[in-house]
Amino acid sequence: MTRPLYITTPIYYVNAMPHLGHAYTTIAADVVCRFNFMQQNETLFLTGTDEHGDKIVRAAKKENISPRVYVDKISKVFKELWPQLNIKYDYFIRTSDPAHIAVVKQMLQKIYDAGDIYFSEYEGLYCFGCERFFTKRELVDGKCPDHLVEPEPIKESNYFFKMSRYQDWLIDHIEKHPDFIRPERYRNEILAFLSEPLEDLCISRPKKRLKWGITLPFDKDYVTYVWFDALLNYVSALGYPDGELFKKFWPYAQHIVAKDILKPHGIYWPIMLKAAGIPMYNHLNVHGYWNVDQGKMSKSIGNVVEPLQLKNIYGLDAFRFFLMRDMVFGLDSNFSEQALVQRINADLANDLGNLFSRVIAMVHKYFKGIVPEVDPVVEDEFQLGLKSDMLAAIPEYEQSMENFTFHKALVTTWELIAKMNRYVDVTSPWVLAKKKASKKQLQVVISNLLNGLGVIAGLIYPIMPDTSAAMQKHLGMDTDLITKGRFNNLDMLKTWKIIKPGIQLPKGITLFPRIDLKKNQATPQNEAAAEDLLSVLKTEIPVEAFGAIDLRVVTILSAESIPRAKKLLKLEVDLGEKRTLVAGIAASYKPENLVGKQVIVVANLKPAKIMGIVSNGMVLAAVDDKGCSLATVDRKVKPGTPVG
Ligand code: ME8
Ligand code: MG
Repeated sequence: MTRPLYITTPIYYVNAMPHLGHAYTTIAADVVCRFNFMQQNETLFLTGTDEHGDKIVRAAKKENISPRVYVDKISKVFKELWPQLNIKYDYFIRTSDPAHIAVVKQMLQKIYDAGDIYFSEYEGLYCFGCERFFTKRELVDGKCPDHLVEPEPIKESNYFFKMSRYQDWLIDHIEKHPDFIRPERYRNEILAFLSEPLEDLCISRPKKRLKWGITLPFDKDYVTYVWFDALLNYVSALGYPDGELFKKFWPYAQHIVAKDILKPHGIYWPIMLKAAGIPMYNHLNVHGYWNVDQGKMSKSIGNVVEPLQLKNIYGLDAFRFFLMRDMVFGLDSNFSEQALVQRINADLANDLGNLFSRVIAMVHKYFKGIVPEVDPVVEDEFQLGLKSDMLAAIPEYEQSMENFTFHKALVTTWELIAKMNRYVDVTSPWVLAKKKASKKQLQVVISNLLNGLGVIAGLIYPIMPDTSAAMQKHLGMDTDLITKGRFNNLDMLKTWKIIKPGIQLPKGITLFPRIDLKKNQATPQNEAAAEDLLSVLKTEIPVEAFGAIDLRVVTILSAESIPRAKKLLKLEVDLGEKRTLVAGIAASYKPENLVGKQVIVVANLKPAKIMGIVSNGMVLAAVDDKGCSLATVDRKVKPGTPVG
């Protein structure tokens, strides 16, 4: 039976650039969405940006631009990043959208009219970083535990939301719906918090202190507290109250957040919904933090990990796989490039990649690349439990995906890959191939392996959509469905008739090349490592690969030396578009003599980070004992002109 899915991420503050943590949550939402898509469920995936409040005003001031211009700029960065990580959201909401603002005002009025908002003088300790009042028991050594500063005493009149009135109702709701907040540790955390009296929530800020916000509909001297504004995005995006999308999708709402914003989502939000007479969301799914070197990632510490950089070096699917495989949803995880490389080499290059190329190679060796027919009599004899094990694992995988335990779904999948690798060893196709009498057995073994790969291609789709598509295409699966972005659904996998006999398969490909950490690290330790990397880039290319090399003429726009790298220069070049390259030519060329020169580059090399600079191409030069001499053209041509 199909059932719609409405999946949301937090709307991210635009006071900082997106990093690994934001990427994780948003990729997780994409994984859930693609999994539901595979089950043929209708899906709606919402993400966006949170643009009001003091934090944003301060960030804009730092850049000397108005909040308006500032939020437009940073929101665009988020919006345009996600598609580059293969994240297919359906709608991108901004809290500065007029439609959202209208819903916030309507909701405030509704709750005000119902008598759940009151005006009162309040004196309390205020953390400007968090933009909220703290109670004494929330402080650690008298300081805000997040910002490590003492909150300032403030006395002012404000509007308050009567949350206390709904405390018993909320406890009851959570107790009656055990997986309302999951995993359980966060449910328990909320229940523990609710075991003490709940204070009312201050939901306004006086305009004399903050103007960048939504004016209260019942008092023009105040703006709305940023959380009361932000949380409503989840319903305003659906066209609440009358929108068709709201009616259709709201009953299936699932939120994903990290533990930093558990309280607003586990307490304020359900109570706001209740007070406004809106049914509850289905699940709040809470994950832990990605830490770097065991500490929290933060801009001020300077250990922020940029998702695009990792994608460029290691490949997008490997990056997505690592995030989903290495974090146990709900617990903290430590990020390191070493761990990432280990995963790529062991799980992707070795287990999956080798299996794939091994099986395709056998189809070519024993059957000229044509998928063999199978004799149903022999079929059972040579299953050795592979088919039944694989089919039994699919519901297990589905259950893990439903529960947001992505790592478990991947463990299950990789157990199947291990099983397939053992199946190859046990059946020893190379022995069967030696005897004419065992041809039928060989057909069954190869057919089983191909169908097994078909299942794997399906199971990895939500996490590694490109790799799944490449495998499907290579296995002659329904490519029409791939181009439409729609995978043959899970039920189809369960038929075990995935790969059609009689079709010709292309020769094998390498799904995941092995990676040498030393040569690829985003932060090379020293110049020697950087030079190693350059020498790799200079490795010979087999002649049949020549057609794949994209040679172009570029004009050098600027050149500069790189600190601590005597042999390297950083070049900005015009290739029709602007590119940055690192070239090992500093011994032969002075930077100032390069500007304006036209040279030839390899334009489609995989980007590599060298001495902290992402190099997007390689300059060609002749090298002799006097040094190097750049390859060039003998008449000026348009930058970007191909060299053939
Ligand atoms: O809180 N590890 O926005 P925000 C894992 N605007 N996830 C992380 C992370 C880390 N180290 N750092 C950030 C806000 N995240 C509000 C939300 S919603 C109505 C309003 C992710 O930009 C994680 O999803 O501070 C976390 O909850 C979110 O970014 C916080 O983003
Ligand atoms: Mg935050």
